[in-house]
Amino acid sequence: MFTRVERSAILPASGNVLDFESSPVPFRSGDSVAAALLAAGASPLRESPVDDSPRAPYCMMGVCFECLVEIDGKQNQQSCLTKARPGMIVKRQHGARMVG
Ligand code: FES
Repeated sequence: MFTRVERSAILPASGNVLDFESSPVPFRSGDSVAAALLAAGASPLRESPVDDSPRAPYCMMGVCFECLVEIDGKQNQQSCLTKARPGMIVKRQHGARMVG
């Protein structure tokens, strides 16, 4: 469903790599976390707190909240609005976020 307009390859030597569930995910400069994860085939990104159904980014513009992940230990981060940075640690969000 999601394809990149630009067809150039990601350069592995660029250092643009984030960690998703303990796996390296390369990204292009300017990518959002959601774009990087979708391009890498890393989906779903979370589970519904209601019925544990798998969820993935949908709107890619901050409206639907289907892209929530944990980034560097902070839950409920909208991955479509977060710019990917080298070394960031991203994890799937399971169910409702912790409070406190
Ligand atoms: S994909 Fe809809 S808010 Fe992120």
